[in-house]
Amino acid sequence: MRIGTLGNGLMAEALASQWVKAGHDVMVGGRSADKAVEVAKRVGATAGTLEEAAAYGDVVLLAVPAEVAVEVAGLVPAGTTLIDCTNALDHRDFTLAHPATAEAISQAVPEVRVVKAFNLAADAVWRNPPAGLGVPICGDSGVNQVAELVRDLGCMPVLAGGLRRAKLLEATAALAIGIWVSGGDVREMFPPLAAAFGDVLPGQP
Ligand SMILES: NC(=O)c1ccc[n+]([C@@H]2O[C@H](COP(=O)([O-])OP(=O)(O)OC[C@H]3O[C@@H](n4cnc5c(N)ncnc54)[C@H](OP(=O)(O)O)[C@@H]3O)[C@@H](O)[C@H]2O)c1
Repeated sequence: MRIGTLGNGLMAEALASQWVKAGHDVMVGGRSADKAVEVAKRVGATAGTLEEAAAYGDVVLLAVPAEVAVEVAGLVPAGTTLIDCTNALDHRDFTLAHPATAEAISQAVPEVRVVKAFNLAADAVWRNPPAGLGVPICGDSGVNQVAELVRDLGCMPVLAGGLRRAKLLEATAALAIGIWVSGGDVREMFPPLAAAFGDVLPGQP
């Protein structure tokens, strides 16, 4: 797959390095040519401007601050799959500074296939992902490509519904980050499937 990154920061570098290792052709796109070249060299990718990376990818990773996500997504050509990993976090109290970023992107660029993914864990996790980690994905199309990119990390795609549910994933990230920074472990909150549903599992007769 050809993958462009919009941004050359922590998330772009972490995910680009994994996708290069998995055999994909990656272009790191940045507004600073020097920084994009530096990051691209470290991960074994090529470097370009934001415009070049947007045009390069069958899939484009949008890894910029959420407040500029809609503006930067405007560079992405119609038909491309855009992975939105942004979190519009208000760091004062770990709430969302604004809701539904992925939906706002999709409304601004309706011909782009927007998929929310990779926002639920830190860049350090993506640099060295625990095998089998579940990665929730929300989107209406482009989901299969993103699921493949999740598997390339040794992780497990969790299809979490259409793009309208992406705002729930954004809120979940804010909740989880707030718990993590206060020393909690979010894994303690979720029971196994059987405990949640008893003998009758959902989807079974
Ligand atoms: N880091 C994490 O653990 C993590 C986890 C989940 C989700 N996220 C989300 O992922 C996104 C990226 O996070 P990050 O940690 O990679 O951030 P980062 O290291 O600060 O990198 C941000 C990138 O966005 C670029 N950028 C900033 N303002 C821009 C603008 N106005 N126009 C174009 N590019 C701009 C920066 O360019 P310059 O290098 O030129 O400044 C940089 O390449 C954020 O929305 C964040 O909430 C982060």
